[in-house]
Amino acid sequence: MASLRAFLVALFIFAVAFDPSSVNAKISKSMYFYWGAQNSAMLGNGDDLQLVLNQASGSGVKSKRPFLFGSMQMLIKLVPGNSAGTVTAYYVSSSGDTHDEIDFEFLGNTSGQPYTIHTNIYTQGNGSREQQFRPWFDPTADFHNYTIHWNPTEVVWYIDNVPIRVFRNYENEGIAYPNKQGMRVYSSLWNADNWATQGGRVKIDWTVAPFIARYRNFRARACKWNGPVSINQCAANTPANWWTSPTYSKLSDAQLGQMNWVRDNYMIYNYCNDTRRFNGQMPPECFKAQF
Ligand SMILES: *[C@@H]1O[C@H](CO)[C@@H](O)[C@H](O)[C@H]1NC(C)=O
Ligand SMILES: *[C@@H]1O[C@H](CO)[C@@H](O)[C@H](O)[C@H]1NC(C)=O
Ligand SMILES: *[C@@H]1O[C@H](CO)[C@@H](O)[C@H](O)[C@H]1NC(C)=O
Ligand SMILES: *[C@@H]1O[C@H](CO)[C@@H](O)[C@H](O)[C@H]1NC(C)=O
Repeated sequence: MASLRAFLVALFIFAVAFDPSSVNAKISKSMYFYWGAQNSAMLGNGDDLQLVLNQASGSGVKSKRPFLFGSMQMLIKLVPGNSAGTVTAYYVSSSGDTHDEIDFEFLGNTSGQPYTIHTNIYTQGNGSREQQFRPWFDPTADFHNYTIHWNPTEVVWYIDNVPIRVFRNYENEGIAYPNKQGMRVYSSLWNADNWATQGGRVKIDWTVAPFIARYRNFRARACKWNGPVSINQCAANTPANWWTSPTYSKLSDAQLGQMNWVRDNYMIYNYCNDTRRFNGQMPPECFKAQF
């Protein structure tokens, strides 16, 4: 056991030291404000990001680089207290009409009422694949690890190492998969009180503004994307090609157990369940195994 552990530690150190595609810098090195910088701040050593929403503006950051595949980790402490009407988002996205996007959105609530964790995925500009969850912890009391894991085989949404959702690649069966466009990592905080909380019935209480979401430890273990010509290069140039390795291609039985626990106990909306919305014409992936 001891030697296995030593071996794993050595392997880990090797992988961290020699993986040139891993971005593990302070947030201020890897991201910049694209909106509301005047409100917000990167404090401390540049790894204490605070996004602020007040009556003048919300705010947002995006990564300097786009990526193709990777594991995008961010530790986030959501807006505490009465956060009704606010939405904090953490997502990856390309741009244009046929964009790809993978989302976490956190819909605020009145004090003491639960947040909604909203997830979605767009492929070729087409979304409408929402799944929603209740947090099984207080997301405002401390930082939690929200990670979007995206490889050629599947997308996995993780919270504190627990997978909550998988979207598998069924491109060979005609279902679009995000694998041709580089995506940047974004986070933002904005006023969505026309829809977010109890369907828009609860408005933002500006008397308790400013609303502040805090972030640290952004880490993109990801393949840097330099445009369509270099997809293969992107993968080939990364020695620790972990996102295509079997370890990262399929959840273990233990992870499946955790995911089922979340989905059985904390899932509150699944588009694949919403026959009325789709008029009986359910999206094709709803008939495919996702795990
Ligand atoms: C965050 O979660 C991801 C996915 O489980 C994991 O790979 C990563 O090590 C976690 N980071 C921390 C700081 O726990
Ligand atoms: C807010 O709390 C109410 C009451 O518990 C709940 O119905 C609602 O889903 C919660 N979340 C949002 C975003 O409205
Ligand atoms: C999905 O539909 C079934 C049957 O109508 C229902 O029991 C279940 O709660 C629904 N799940 C979600 C997450 O909406
Ligand atoms: C867009 O997505 C919806 C929901 O997944 C699906 O029903 C529809 O067929 C898709 N449309 C196209 C053009 O892919």
